[in-house]
Amino acid sequence: MRNLLYNHIINDFTNHSYKSCLEYFPCDSNILDIGIGNGKMLKTFHPLIRSKQLSITGIDINKVYLKNCKRLIKKYHLQDHLTIYHEPIEYFSPPNNEFYDFVLFSMSFMLFNDQPLILDKVKSYLHPDGEIVFFQTMFKKKSWLLDFTKPKLKYLTTIDFGKATYENEFFALLEKHELSVLQDKVTPRKCGKGEGRMIVARQN
Ligand SMILES: C[S@@+](CC[C@H](N)C(=O)[O-])C[C@H]1O[C@@H](n2cnc3c(N)ncnc32)[C@H](O)[C@@H]1O
Repeated sequence: MRNLLYNHIINDFTNHSYKSCLEYFPCDSNILDIGIGNGKMLKTFHPLIRSKQLSITGIDINKVYLKNCKRLIKKYHLQDHLTIYHEPIEYFSPPNNEFYDFVLFSMSFMLFNDQPLILDKVKSYLHPDGEIVFFQTMFKKKSWLLDFTKPKLKYLTTIDFGKATYENEFFALLEKHELSVLQDKVTPRKCGKGEGRMIVARQN
């Protein structure tokens, strides 16, 4: 049921996010996908992942989503390209102390209460010229209604949409963490007054 709801509600954003991000990653990239979800994107993007020889480590806290993701990895024979872990980012350490070319937050960054801690953590998992890629809905103007309702949507839908991401606060956070923005792409995906944006940042 959770998986069905998830598919129905965020499928379009998921496809858009992974299309933008997977196209951005160069061939042979090593990627940490934080909050990979149910792997639904694999149905569309398995040929791209394979042809670009991407190596993706996906982590998530939701066992039901990961079970579905595991099933799709098997179905599309992606075992050499995707490894998944049931672990929260707060406790995750890269296996074999490996470093990543990219850390990806596809619609997951807004879920974290302690975003500064998460940024510090993932910065240490990147190669020196590694990049953090965020795909998220961003709002320009503060809205008390949005701040009140968005965190409560999970009680209605069972899906946690986290808190609203405001442009000025998000960029201030990146600056504080000595991350400079390399790319900021507005996509055609809209959610009310929010814009679906892909933002790429690198350590200064
Ligand atoms: C909105 S979904 C996005 C899933 C997928 N990346 C996409 O774009 O469709 C956010 C995901 O983050 C996961 N998540 C939430 N908190 C997490 C945490 N602390 N560590 C790892 N994953 C987390 C959720 O279980 C959920 O699958």
